[in-house]
Amino acid sequence: MLSATDISVSFGKRPVLNSVCFTANAGELHAIVGPNGSGKTTLLRAMTGDLTATGQTLINGTDIADLSPAELAQRRAVLPQSGNIAFPFTVLELVRLGLHAGMPSRAGFDPNLPQKALTRVGLAGFEGRFVQDLSGGERQRVQLARVLVQIWEPVLNGAPRWLFLDEPVSALDIGHQLIVMQLARDYAEAGGGVVAVMHDLNLTAMFADRITLLNAGHVRATGRPDEVLTDGDLSACYGCALRTNTPPPFGGKWILPQAIANRTHVGA
Ligand SMILES: Nc1ncnc2c1ncn2[C@@H]1O[C@H](COP(=O)(O)OP(=O)(O)OP(=O)(O)O)[C@@H](O)[C@H]1O
Ligand SMILES: [Mg+2]
Repeated sequence: MLSATDISVSFGKRPVLNSVCFTANAGELHAIVGPNGSGKTTLLRAMTGDLTATGQTLINGTDIADLSPAELAQRRAVLPQSGNIAFPFTVLELVRLGLHAGMPSRAGFDPNLPQKALTRVGLAGFEGRFVQDLSGGERQRVQLARVLVQIWEPVLNGAPRWLFLDEPVSALDIGHQLIVMQLARDYAEAGGGVVAVMHDLNLTAMFADRITLLNAGHVRATGRPDEVLTDGDLSACYGCALRTNTPPPFGGKWILPQAIANRTHVGA
């Protein structure tokens, strides 16, 4: 279980998160949604130990403040919102960095792991390409492969591991969005925990087990998709009139991916 209590963050004198509490279960995909600037990235960074915050975050019952960088790196991996690369890495070199996150070397890992991860994100054959020569969506998937190799097995010594993904599909076309969201679901269904910041509310409704809706540094709602994705809360948070499950009044086309296989919709 992931449990964050009374997380508060201020930048200068400006409070950005105000006593936020957040709980996620292993075996589930928990999405964090909310408008730009509502504090999603800040909350994620506080819970991964990448940002100093007041409050407490427990990963599987252990306070992250009590974990060494190497211990933390074995328990959780983080896909940041933007991952620009300043060095001329090849794809394979970048993905291999995930094997060494938080520690100088890791003995006994499967040498084919980077290739497996690249295949999983649809980038088999990209190993020798330079990362800065890739398209935006390709770069985002390389970064995801790097994160995956860090904690490839969703459960280690009986304990779930945690994937923190900050807008993992923001640069992806609709087909690759589905591949990545299914990958995240598979990780959860294999026993790991996934916390994903999302802007696409339709994909979120389709894939998330739980959703937390943040607004102005507060939790506006948290629960199952049908509990959180309500016309009232969404309209109030995003500042525009939003209607769920209603075709557009002007007709025309609207395009949604078909329901994913083998998934009974939560709350349906
Ligand atoms: N390092 C920083 N210094 C000062 N202010 C910051 C810093 N990081 C974030 N903020 C501010 O904190 C607020 C929350 O930022 P955060 O990145 O958490 O938003 P977000 O919900 O992830 O938004 P988005 O959807 O645009 O990614 C914003 O108003 C932002 O300008
Ligand atoms: Mg953000």
